[in-house]
Amino acid sequence: MDQANIGEVLISSEDLQRRVGEIGAEISRDYRDRDLVMVGVLRGAVVFIADLLRSLTVPCEIDFMAVSSYGSSRDSSGVVRILKDLDDPIYGRDVLIVEDIVDSGLTLNYLMRNLRARDPKSIEVCSLLTKPERRRVDIPIRYTGFEIPNTFVVGYGLDYAQRYRNLDYVALLPEDAAPTL
Ligand code: PRP
Repeated sequence: MDQANIGEVLISSEDLQRRVGEIGAEISRDYRDRDLVMVGVLRGAVVFIADLLRSLTVPCEIDFMAVSSYGSSRDSSGVVRILKDLDDPIYGRDVLIVEDIVDSGLTLNYLMRNLRARDPKSIEVCSLLTKPERRRVDIPIRYTGFEIPNTFVVGYGLDYAQRYRNLDYVALLPEDAAPTL
């Protein structure tokens, strides 16, 4: 399937840019005079964090983590394997985890527990998308871009088999191409 066969646009590029700007303004207000470190969760959050970062008007740093994807370790225990850890310590700092999507919540549940153990001053979550219907653990999301229904989406960082991350909009995959959720 090539990009011409992608499904209906769910969130346009204009709507994404507008919402990212709004969230950036909110974060800039909330983190004035603080010590902000944005932690992007690879790989899906890369596009969002890059735009979000440029919409901030407060000083900030970025760091990245990579965790294991859907696989045998992603069972109900929520144990997630760290493939790449942060480069720098977060002790005493104001951490904002940046995700492209929160689905079951298991990844973030694990990440928050793991990062809290390093004694940051604060820890919050910013996710571009959330699928509330799919949630298995309650996650406090401080900043949310859009709530979406339980459908498979791609674009603006989100992939299907590592493709479509480069789209500047979020689209549905056609029924016959989407994996079963
Ligand atoms: C996605 C997303 C989150 C996780 C959310 O990552 O970026 O990290 O799934 O799902 P959960 O709430 O059910 O835990 P994915 O494993 O697809 O990897 P990617 O970011 O590299 O595409």
